[in-house]
Amino acid sequence: MLQLSTIDPVKSKLTALAVPVAEDKNLHRDQKINALVKKIKKFKEFKGAKDNTITYYEPQGFNSERVILIGVGKADEIDLDRLRVMAGQMVKKAIDLDLAEIAILVPSLKNFKLDPEDTITAIGEGARLANHRFDKYKKPEHPPLKRIKLVLDSTATRYRSLTARVNTICEGTLQARNWVNTPANDKTPAVFAGSIKKLAQKTGLGIDIRDERWLKKEGFNTMLAVAQGSQNRPRLVVLRHQPKGAKQTVALIGKGVTFDAGGINLKPTGSIETMKCDMSGAAAVAATLITAARLKLNTNLVGVIPIVENMPSGTAIRPGDIIKSWAGKTVEIGNTDAEGRLILIDAMAWAIDTFAPKVTIDMATLTGACVVALGEKIAGVFSSDNHLADALIHAGDYTHERCWRMPLPDDYKEQLKSEVADTGNIGTTRWGGAITAALFLSEFAKGTRWAHIDIAGPAFLKKGNAYGEAGATGFGVRLIYRLLETMAS
Ligand code: BES
Ligand code: ZN
Ligand code: ZN
Repeated sequence: MLQLSTIDPVKSKLTALAVPVAEDKNLHRDQKINALVKKIKKFKEFKGAKDNTITYYEPQGFNSERVILIGVGKADEIDLDRLRVMAGQMVKKAIDLDLAEIAILVPSLKNFKLDPEDTITAIGEGARLANHRFDKYKKPEHPPLKRIKLVLDSTATRYRSLTARVNTICEGTLQARNWVNTPANDKTPAVFAGSIKKLAQKTGLGIDIRDERWLKKEGFNTMLAVAQGSQNRPRLVVLRHQPKGAKQTVALIGKGVTFDAGGINLKPTGSIETMKCDMSGAAAVAATLITAARLKLNTNLVGVIPIVENMPSGTAIRPGDIIKSWAGKTVEIGNTDAEGRLILIDAMAWAIDTFAPKVTIDMATLTGACVVALGEKIAGVFSSDNHLADALIHAGDYTHERCWRMPLPDDYKEQLKSEVADTGNIGTTRWGGAITAALFLSEFAKGTRWAHIDIAGPAFLKKGNAYGEAGATGFGVRLIYRLLETMAS
């Protein structure tokens, strides 16, 4: 789908050549390209400003049917996400024109200010991620492109394998998007687990799917408590990527609530409509493991994914119920809509005990409070491990899946106190809800290296952007993959 190419952009027969243009500098070495850009810049319609585009048909001396110029602003201000946005805009334009393919001219790597590999990665990501439509339930008006070529003036083979790797990582993100966009009626816990299994087996991951009987026997009681209100029975998916020679194990835990109605504390209109997205953490974890297997990442990984549906019914848990968690602590249910933390603590405590991971990271659409704090585009990172928190924030800066560190203040723990159980599942006030949720989880990390990422904001967007449709974003796959790669090197 995404390929590297060293064709001559001027002489080759193409349907569309897309050319990034800066306001103030030539980004390309080819004289003919620069001459064409110069000619068009004479007119006021196009000066290379950000998001500015113009299509030129059969330009003289070129063999391309059309040349699409896209402005990127001042050359010195170009960063990796500007390149993603630009490539996304190019692909969207080509899709709107119903084309089958596009060739994107990469800025000349030698005199471009960004690192060559990062440049190719970012352009490849923007293009690949934009070339996707969720088409399970209706035919898209304009189908995605069949091929995207990145045209380079270097023949280095490492760039070729880099392009293939970028393609695979993006396919992980797109897989996560497809899972999240699928409505809850078509992804009950059993169906979702089965869908993960199909891909896991194809890629050579180890997989166990645990059903209710196993969960009961093992004592996953807070997870089962959430599940008990739904007819659709829960599953625990355990994925294993164990390359030969790898030593450390990283455990990834993902919240998999296929639909969060809130339970007896039913969500109101206005909050409930998008709650098929409440398994975005699970989707990101599963897709990250699949990506790691495809790319033969040299780190042991386990993915532990509790999957339930949170529904109100005659069998649902009630506020006031007290449940003994897998770890042994009793939990008083203050609010049945604070269900994510209930399934996560059993999965996390069990994973830490079973696999003794060096690092544990959970991803969860956990709290509306985190969205209030950071908005829809930034995730909250909670960890008492400075090193791990920094590494996550750096990885997020790189992939533009932005993370912001949030505090884990010890004295806020008193908010979780219960008169009748070891802990409550919600805070006593409504303030700092993302923090009390994270503190609740931290009690089950047993002092190991652990980070929690609250993705309630960025997992699912009302409005699409340059390299994503409205709906699921696949947030977390590129982020965690980048983290794992930097940890391994
Ligand atoms: N799944 C929600 C959090 C959420 C909110 C995800 C918005 C995506 C977008 C979570 O289970 C929840 O309902 N949290 C409650 C916690 C409260 C009852 C303490 C919340 O945030 O209101
Ligand atoms: Zn909830
Ligand atoms: Zn939830």
